[in-house]
Parts: sequence; structure tokens; C-alpha cells
Amino acid sequence: MTEKLRRPAEETYGAELAALAGGDGERKPAGWALSPRAVVTYLMGGTAPDGSVVTPKYVGDRRLIETAVATLATDRALLLLGVPGTAKSWVSEHLAAAIAGDSTLVIQCTAGTDENQIRYGWNYAQLLAHGPSREALVATPLMRAMESGKLCRFEELTRMGSDVQDTLITVLSEKMMPVPELNTSVYAARGFNIIATANNRDKGVNELSSALKRRFNVVVLPLPDTASEEVAIIVKRVGEMAANLDLPAPKNVADEVARIVSIFRELRSGSTEDGKIALKTPTGGLSTAEAIGVMVGGISEATFFNDGRLTPDALASNMIGAVIKDPVQDRAVLGEYLETVLKKRQGFEGYYAALTDRI
Ligand SMILES: Nc1ncnc2c1ncn2[C@@H]1O[C@H](COP(=O)(O)OP(=O)(O)O)[C@@H](O)[C@H]1O
Ligand SMILES: [Mg+2]
Repeated sequence: MTEKLRRPAEETYGAELAALAGGDGERKPAGWALSPRAVVTYLMGGTAPDGSVVTPKYVGDRRLIETAVATLATDRALLLLGVPGTAKSWVSEHLAAAIAGDSTLVIQCTAGTDENQIRYGWNYAQLLAHGPSREALVATPLMRAMESGKLCRFEELTRMGSDVQDTLITVLSEKMMPVPELNTSVYAARGFNIIATANNRDKGVNELSSALKRRFNVVVLPLPDTASEEVAIIVKRVGEMAANLDLPAPKNVADEVARIVSIFRELRSGSTEDGKIALKTPTGGLSTAEAIGVMVGGISEATFFNDGRLTPDALASNMIGAVIKDPVQDRAVLGEYLETVLKKRQGFEGYYAALTDRI
């Protein structure tokens, strides 16, 4: 049997979810698999009623997650907003896994998303052969979530056109979806709600209409406050991802993460950590997620091409890829940073050499 490359959260963390459900005596909103408190424990980490350990999924402010969970227990939907790489999709997946036991009802929104991908489509062979019927109707993840009382996830909600977004107004306010072709409506079962994510830094953003905005509660996921918090997130995620890919984790992962985070944070904020030198910032995001990608790529290079040694050389190409999104502008930004800051910094000699060599 072939193995899935990536399993949904409810499978990967099935044991934790079962342990939390086991002794969960607290009040649950209708249709929920866990109580709100247990959902927060699942996301933030802690202990299950049977004493087993629940690993943290989100590292950050507990109150944000409490607000998100509380929102989903009301008739308002949840919108997770933030710059790329702040764990919006990650939190959305885990919330759906914990609350509905199913994180797979996802609609990825793009400029090309149309109403049929939100409401329902038709199986044209069936439609032509037998006319409009429930059998000929192709349910979308949204319709299936409504019928089964689960959560539907909308990824990058603001990327689809405003007129298509507004399809959701009826669903969110009336909790039903009319199907005029069959002269009927689909009513949402208890437990149904929507979690959407959106980038506040996207080009081509279609602002939510005020009618739709009112039906969402917005929770902003921030970039990590401190470098040490960011290092902790990256080390944890890189460890999990490397294990999943069967890559051995080199001993110096945490040290290299600390160096990369300090470089990324300086470039991102446009000034050195001591605040003495102002820097130009690259066009791309340089988020936590970007640093995770650099590390996992570097570990793969180290494993297959560098005898398992995670050196600046093994990481440099990935770092260049993360920093230089615009080949002209960002190259100049990085070049200036290397010469004015990194060249003289102790402990970064390897990075200065490897990056200068590749730029
Ligand atoms: N605060 C955080 N806690 C846990 N993981 C985080 C955090 N910030 C970023 N990550 C990690 O970053 C990666 C990318 O996150 P993702 O959800 O795809 O970002 P977004 O959807 O906001 O662009 C995930 O692997 C996630 O685990
Ligand atoms: Mg995302």
C-alpha cells in the first residue's frame, strides 16, 4: 500500500484528539467533537484528561486562539488575517480537525474561482440524461460541510472576486443555500461554520464587502514578537517536518536557525538588531514559514550532498531563494546587507562567504 505524503491533522494527531475527547466532560456546542477548552488545549498544548501529553500546534498568544474558538461557537464565521507565513492555514486546519474531526473540506480561492465552486456544480452527463436531480448535483466542500454540520475552510478568501465572495452572505446569515433548479434549499446542520484565511499583504486583494465583513470575526495572527520565540517555532516545525521526510536532524539545527532568524529579522524590519544601521528591506515577506523552508531545504542538501553536515554552504542557496524574489532590487538589498552588516559580524563568517559567493 502506498503511504500518504501528508496526512490531515485529524489523522496525524488522531491519538491526541481521542485522548482529549475521552474525558471531556465540559459543555460542547452542538455538533462539536470537543469542548472549546479542549480545542484550545489541542492547539496550544497541555495534558489530556488521561494524563497524556498534547503537543502545541500554535506557538503564540493563547487569547487569540480562545477568541477564534469562541467565535466558531457563535453564528459568526472566523477570518484569520495576517502576513504570509503566520500560520493562518495551519491554525485553520487544526481548528477544523479539533472541532469537526475533519479538516479536509477546503476551498482554495483564486481570481478564477466562480460561484459553481462555492455553491454546487452539475454532473453534465447525469443532467442531460435525467434532467436536474439531486444525483446530478455535484456538492462543493461548502455544501458538504453544511449538510454534515462541519467546518468549511476558505483559503485566501480575498483572492476571489467580491461578487463571488458575496455568495457567502446568504449562507452565513440564513444558514442555508437555495437550489432553485431543484426548487429546494440545503439547510446547514448544527456545527456548521466557516473559517477563512486572508493575507493583508497580497497584491490583487478584493476587499470584503461590508455586508460580508460583518458576518466574520477577524483574528489577526501576528509575526512572532521576539527572535527567541521565532527560533522556537522554527526548530519545532523543522524537527517535525524533517522526521516526516525521514531526514536526520543535524545537531546544530538550533544554532543555524538562530543565525538565519537574526538575518531575516534584520532584513524584514529594515534595521540591525542594535538599531544602529538602517537597512533596505527585500520585496518578499521573509516570514517564519520562509525560514522553515530554508532550513528543511538545507537539511535535505546536507543529507544528500554534504555528508549530513548542515553548513552555511548547504543553507545559502535556499536563503538566496527566500530573500531574492525580485532579481534586481533584492540582489542589491542583500549585497548591501552583506557588506555593511554581515561582513564584520562574529559567528557569521561562513554565511558572509557562502552568500557573497552565490549572489
Ligand atoms: N506561531 C506559529 N506557531 C506554529 N507554527 C507556525 C507559527 N508561525 C508559523 N508557523 C509555521 O509556518 C508554516 C506556514 O504556515 P502557514 O499556515 O502556511 O502560513 P499562512 O497560511 O499564514 O501563510 C507552518 O508549518 C506553521 O507550522
Ligand atoms: Mg495560507
